[in-house]
Amino acid sequence: MIIDGKQVAADIKREISETVTRMLAQGAKRPHLAAILVGHDGGSETYVAHKVKACEECGFKSTLIRFEDDITEEKLLETIDTLNKNNDVDGFIVQLPLPKHISEQRVIEAIDYRKDVDGFHPVNVGRMSIGLPCFVSATPAGILMLLERYNIPTKGANCVVLGRSNIVGKPVANLMMQKHIPGDSTVTVCHSATKNIKEICSQADIIIAALGSPGFVKADMVKDGAVIIDVGTTRVPDATRKSGFRLCGDVDYENVAPKCSWITPVPGGVGPMTIVSLMKNTLLAARHDIYPA
Ligand code: GUN
Repeated sequence: MIIDGKQVAADIKREISETVTRMLAQGAKRPHLAAILVGHDGGSETYVAHKVKACEECGFKSTLIRFEDDITEEKLLETIDTLNKNNDVDGFIVQLPLPKHISEQRVIEAIDYRKDVDGFHPVNVGRMSIGLPCFVSATPAGILMLLERYNIPTKGANCVVLGRSNIVGKPVANLMMQKHIPGDSTVTVCHSATKNIKEICSQADIIIAALGSPGFVKADMVKDGAVIIDVGTTRVPDATRKSGFRLCGDVDYENVAPKCSWITPVPGGVGPMTIVSLMKNTLLAARHDIYPA
């Protein structure tokens, strides 16, 4: 059966907007998310546009700050400092990837961790890894929300994570092994140096595929009844589409879906949940729920 991320995301956005309406009625400030977008990468443009639209749907204020590719690291760091100090901004993100001449790590560490609604700052990553309240990065948090909303059993499950990126693989593996529900799974992380991926995957109750390799997970790697979470969003050229491309997941959906108990489609699975997790984090930031003012 299909895990409908689009529907769950719509439900959560409605819940958030109701909360915002109540907050405003009680005299609170409207939550405010800022986003910095550098350059014109097609994927980044789309993601940021979706984030701005989601802010509107949730009743948040949003500010988009754009720079060309040739912005200096110094100027970007100055802008981050301004946002850190701006009391009207509750949280902000710098859309990744950044041009090669800018250190992503330096940028991430320049963000005040109390406004780091992407959950990329080492303080948030560290707190997450030891189970303390923090901003959890959006894609892993979105995946956990889907597992929770669909009541998918995770305790003691064999969960295989494909990919070890800082944005998805590492944090989702960490969350899935923590002693909470969803989670409490036995987690195996596979990556480019893993020798027997097929064997490992075929033991999995849950596969979380975050490699960025279109159609990597084939039917013969999946056991009957497995739960498949597809995080892949590779743009594959497609002349039949107006945009000239289609989004392709890491799973050979057509052949894998019939074997699964649950599967996320691409698009409409994890993607919308990522955006909604960012909205949830922004609300937490506005209310100072994680870090006191
Ligand atoms: N690039 C890909 N995913 C993300 C994300 O969740 N946040 C930011 N800032 N950049 C990204």
